[in-house]
Amino acid sequence: MATIIVDGKSYDVTDGQNLLHACLSAGLDLPYFCWHPAMGSVGACRQCAIIQYQDEDDSQGRLTMACMTPVRDGLRISLDASNAVEFRKSVIEWLMLNHPHDCPVCEEGGECHLQDMTVMTGHTFRRYAGNKRTFNNQYLGPFINHEMNRCITCYRCVRYYHDYAGGEDLQAFGSRDRMYFGRATDGVLESEFAGNLVEVCPTGVFTDKPFSASYTRKWDLQSAPSICGSCAVGCNILPGERYGRLKRVHNRYHGELNGYFLCDRGRFGADFVNSDRRFYQAGEKTDEGSFIALDNDGAIRRFVTALDGGDVIGIGSPRASVEANFALRALVGPDRFCNGMSTAETNLVDHALGMLRNGPARVPTLKDVEQADAVLILGEDLSNTAPRVALALRQAARNEALNMAPPAGIPTWQDAGVRGHAQDAMSPIFSATPLRTRIDDIATRALHVSCERISRLGFHIAAALNPDYPAGAELNEIDSAFVRDAAGALSAAQRPLIVSGTGAASTSVLEAAANVAWALCNAGKSAGLMLNVPEANSFGTAMLGTQPSLDDTLDMLGQGVARTVIILENDLFRRADRTRVETALRQSNTVIALDSLENETVEHADLVLPAATFAECEGTYVNYETRAQRFYQVFLPKGDVKPAWRWISDAARSAGRTDLDWDHIDDLIADCANAVDAFSGLSGAGPKAGFRGPGNTRIPRQPHRYSGRTAMNAAVNIHEPKAPRDEESPFAYSMEGANQTATAALMPYSWSPGWNSNQSVMKYQQEIGGHLHGGDPGVRLIERGATLPHMMRFSPPTADTPAHEGLLPLAVFEVFGSDELSSEAAAIAQRIPAAYVILHPEDAAALGVEADAGVRDPTSSARFAVRIDPDVQPGHVYYGSGLPGGWSNPPTTVVVLERDSEYQPPPDHNLIARS
Ligand code: SF4
Ligand code: SF4
Ligand code: FES
Repeated sequence: MATIIVDGKSYDVTDGQNLLHACLSAGLDLPYFCWHPAMGSVGACRQCAIIQYQDEDDSQGRLTMACMTPVRDGLRISLDASNAVEFRKSVIEWLMLNHPHDCPVCEEGGECHLQDMTVMTGHTFRRYAGNKRTFNNQYLGPFINHEMNRCITCYRCVRYYHDYAGGEDLQAFGSRDRMYFGRATDGVLESEFAGNLVEVCPTGVFTDKPFSASYTRKWDLQSAPSICGSCAVGCNILPGERYGRLKRVHNRYHGELNGYFLCDRGRFGADFVNSDRRFYQAGEKTDEGSFIALDNDGAIRRFVTALDGGDVIGIGSPRASVEANFALRALVGPDRFCNGMSTAETNLVDHALGMLRNGPARVPTLKDVEQADAVLILGEDLSNTAPRVALALRQAARNEALNMAPPAGIPTWQDAGVRGHAQDAMSPIFSATPLRTRIDDIATRALHVSCERISRLGFHIAAALNPDYPAGAELNEIDSAFVRDAAGALSAAQRPLIVSGTGAASTSVLEAAANVAWALCNAGKSAGLMLNVPEANSFGTAMLGTQPSLDDTLDMLGQGVARTVIILENDLFRRADRTRVETALRQSNTVIALDSLENETVEHADLVLPAATFAECEGTYVNYETRAQRFYQVFLPKGDVKPAWRWISDAARSAGRTDLDWDHIDDLIADCANAVDAFSGLSGAGPKAGFRGPGNTRIPRQPHRYSGRTAMNAAVNIHEPKAPRDEESPFAYSMEGANQTATAALMPYSWSPGWNSNQSVMKYQQEIGGHLHGGDPGVRLIERGATLPHMMRFSPPTADTPAHEGLLPLAVFEVFGSDELSSEAAAIAQRIPAAYVILHPEDAAALGVEADAGVRDPTSSARFAVRIDPDVQPGHVYYGSGLPGGWSNPPTTVVVLERDSEYQPPPDHNLIARS
């Protein structure tokens, strides 16, 4: 710590930081533009000027930029000195010369850092009467609008997009006062992190295009803390609603997880909540096969009839909350509940969970991932399966540069200095994946090899680190060099990290990753083991315990062993063989589907019950690090939509099941924590409904600037209705209450006096970029596995893939298209490629096809565009998972493809080539 004196007052601040960071952490208000807490300082905008004094006798001082000046114990500075104040005012005056002053029609207005800084500096009068320079705007794709005239040339966008996120297609063009920030030509921004520009740009140059299309002023959004459900990372989000429509998603700061940034699947994928395929009323299928609507009571009566006499099987889902899965399990009994994942997926997820639970490795947060100084990636294409992890790894690659800076006298926050000094120096990252990935550019070495070779590499690296670990089959020269160099880098590291997951669909890849991490632990290293799993609540569902697999369950249903099957938020046709699913559903007297969107399983149901989405109810997901995180209802759903657990509880109550008579989600959570050991800490994921903020008030979902509450309903009734009461959470459906509680994890939006933009999040942090006041959200259910000394290890597989006719399928993933729900979002749909297969050149030649030709599966309606890649293992076919027009469910055995001479890519065929 150091003590600095600011305008005569002493503040204890973190030593080694810059003065802007220190002043903001101390709660002082100082304007800035180019500095960003995640990107450091470049001193470009000159907005953070202060006066620095030599000592207490110095009354003159000198002007300096706070963001470029290191903290020193005893340093005396002034933010209020008149020459500093005048300087900052003049800086904003020149930054605003060309600004269009179009706040009333600007989407950023009211939540704009430029507006805030203009007010803060006191620039209130425009003297410049000349012409403003103007630019043409660009088409940047379905996610981002461009309005270049609003630019103030702070360079944050390119620093974020290029330097932080590794994107190549957004640059700064021009010179002097004609700087242009955009692409060389119009076109879709390629990075899957482009959406963060909306929050990074301090003015309205880059704005959220889907939000613009159905715009509402930002202070009129109703919001609640939530969790992204589009992958297993569990980024914290702030969804905003108005008029019953989910309008946008903003980042919700989490000090250990997503920090300041989301990926575009998370930001734009939540729009599935507004999909035309939503249904809002229960329906019962008639003998003719169409649905007739049922009201709530009718639906419950029908549900109870289906429960009568027992013989009920429940199929859960890794995309449903812990609470919904537990409620179904409690209704049907643990022996008749299946987690809804395929057998293969269940095995992988259970295996990964066991490794975290029983092994000695650290389970890393994303902050830990960013701090790793050597990384080994085995089998996982993170940019497509867990994008935010890929962004964190990109920061880990910079640790070498950050380490080189202090010996050269460069503070680590001085971004340009660090980059200039380090040039291309990067921390060692070794990656072995089936295909090229979008983070190969940060890898010291990247191999694209079969899953068998990937696991072999891992087992050999573990053996190189500790000879007690079995190595397995001999390696070729290339692989031996990879093993030697990777083992050397990992053993030299202080914070080594092993990253893998279920993406390669291989238990031996997972086991190889675990062996490497554990061999490092045995050598006394604090090794991290990050294992990605397929969905938002894969671990949460697996933690409910051993259950019959989906395949076994479908077979049981096919044999007519159950009268009724209840399917929870799960399109079984995406997970299991079509014939098997059809037989199972046909043989069940009553199929009940609880879901939010129409899908094939819903179409096959006899009774359909409308379930709330994540934005319309409370619930918990367990992420890749086993962090249980609570999401809260953002708005009341339309029609008869209610949480899936509530449908189950209401039906159970009507059927006389007093054990499932949960009045509130808190009761359900308490039962779950009691019934399942793994969830004993579940209530720690969020406070109970009775939690109250300062003055015993609820936390308002609406900011105090919220307007038009009466007018919103004027078409119905000019009297303002009473705000609905929320019995399930500490939040209010109004602006009454305390919007800044000691528990920042509960903030439904961020705002602070004078700080209307997302920059206000600093007021919720213990220190800039650090933890939130009251701690970061969520509770880790597994903190660390077994303690050292430890000698766990797996043995390498002995058999190679047997000879086979046809092609062995392997799913590869797309950030846009492979996830079920986000693919329903209108903007995401524009980025989904048509179904494709990737073939080795020899296999393509054998089929008589070239790149961009078509192939089809004669046993199904699946048709694919052909891509050819020598990295594909001969005898295999890699296919884009979940893409429209392709296989709806993953094929599990060899497939035979044939040339499709009539293949035409769909008209909206959108291919930003897989790297
Ligand atoms: S576009 Fe935005 S982020 Fe980029 S330089 Fe201009 S004002 Fe700064
Ligand atoms: S990384 Fe995953 S959890 Fe985070 S925003 Fe993207 S899809 Fe959502
Ligand atoms: S914030 Fe300090 S110069 Fe821009």
